[in-house]
Amino acid sequence: MSGSTLLSFTLLAASTLVRADYFSTDPLVGKVVPFNAIPYQVMTDTDDPRGFQTGYNICNSTTENQNSLCQTMFMNHIDDFCLWAPAPPNSTIADTEGDVVAWCSKKGHGTRIIPDGAITGLQFIQTPSYIQVAGSLNQALLNIAGEFGGELDSGGQDGEGNPMGGLVYSNSFKSNNGNNASFQQAQHWSFFIGANSFCGKVCDSTGSNPQGLCQNIYDRLGCDYNAPNTAQPGVFEACLGDDMTPVGTYVVDGQTSVFHQPAAETDPIGVVPYTATPAPISSCTTFASAAIFTDGVGITAASGNSLSATPTGSGSGSSATGSSGTGAKTSAKSGAGTGTGSSAAPTGTGGAAAMGVSAGAVAVALFAMLAQN
Ligand SMILES: *[C@@H]1O[C@H](CO)[C@@H](O)[C@H](O)[C@H]1NC(C)=O
Ligand SMILES: *[C@@H]1O[C@H](CO)[C@@H](O)[C@H](O)[C@H]1NC(C)=O
Ligand SMILES: *[C@@H]1O[C@H](CO)[C@@H](O)[C@H](O)[C@H]1NC(C)=O
Repeated sequence: MSGSTLLSFTLLAASTLVRADYFSTDPLVGKVVPFNAIPYQVMTDTDDPRGFQTGYNICNSTTENQNSLCQTMFMNHIDDFCLWAPAPPNSTIADTEGDVVAWCSKKGHGTRIIPDGAITGLQFIQTPSYIQVAGSLNQALLNIAGEFGGELDSGGQDGEGNPMGGLVYSNSFKSNNGNNASFQQAQHWSFFIGANSFCGKVCDSTGSNPQGLCQNIYDRLGCDYNAPNTAQPGVFEACLGDDMTPVGTYVVDGQTSVFHQPAAETDPIGVVPYTATPAPISSCTTFASAAIFTDGVGITAASGNSLSATPTGSGSGSSATGSSGTGAKTSAKSGAGTGTGSSAAPTGTGGAAAMGVSAGAVAVALFAMLAQN
């Protein structure tokens, strides 16, 4: 492919308009859940108008199949990480944000497996305080439909998280001293996925400023601001890096300021007063994608069961109803990587603000795709 395609997308909140005043008295972000004490479902509130956790947190060999509703995920190493994506095929993030499930590159976590070929570019960065991933994706292979994505995070409109009850662990935070057998919970994390690209940041609770570095209040700014990166389609690399400036914080002429997106999701975001630049990275090692997604070979998307299905342990993932017929649509954009931060700041909300509104959850995403040849 000649030239480059730069995709810059902004994501409006995945916020529920119904009972926006409800906030959990026992929010997910405040829950300390040691790896050896994971409950069947970490969500406890039963009076949330948004509903209850649809998957589960105890995941094992029985739940490891392409119907899995496991909602415990990992961010370990470039060859051992997970993304949140919908359980049913052909779903928008807007419609499924509260119910997304873990899809992992490696077997052994009791989850769905990311099909080989789903991830078309990957940058995995370890900093002193967090782990960041970003890349491009053939999103239909992860059951994602539509041009608009959304944010998944440990907060959520009601404090229950998106997905509700999602748990995230890592065995490779700097503070863990390289012990692969020991998993630490990340209480603060945020992911953006959609428009055939993704990014995510998982913060070490014992690191510097986990809340600020994994802030989840900038859902309309997308990857360029929340996880500035230099991921490129076709490149799979693991790097070390410095911590970024906390999301939303910027320095002009020695003066530190904090940008806040408008409180109302329907208000135009206007001009973001700064361009985020990726923090310095070093010691990058590139990999062949085949070396990373070994466990995804032969795995197809998913069998299209509904959310209410119970884990059966029988699924090999071979039934794949969701993956066919989408190639043309996704290939048109498969060259898109996440922005480098040099792209235009998110353009105004324009007419797109009214699109994508669906019953219940609203997740309107705006994106501007600048194709350069
Ligand atoms: C495996 O996970 C399922 C789903 O969470 C759970 O019901 C079951 O008890 C687990 N099995 C074992 C042996 O832990
Ligand atoms: C995906 O869903 C859309 C909207 O419901 C529908 O029009 C389209 O046919 C579906 N595509 C596939 C491959 O199922
Ligand atoms: C931890 O696991 C990764 C692969 O996921 C591997 O590259 C690394 O060598 C392991 N570290 C140790 C100390 O075994």
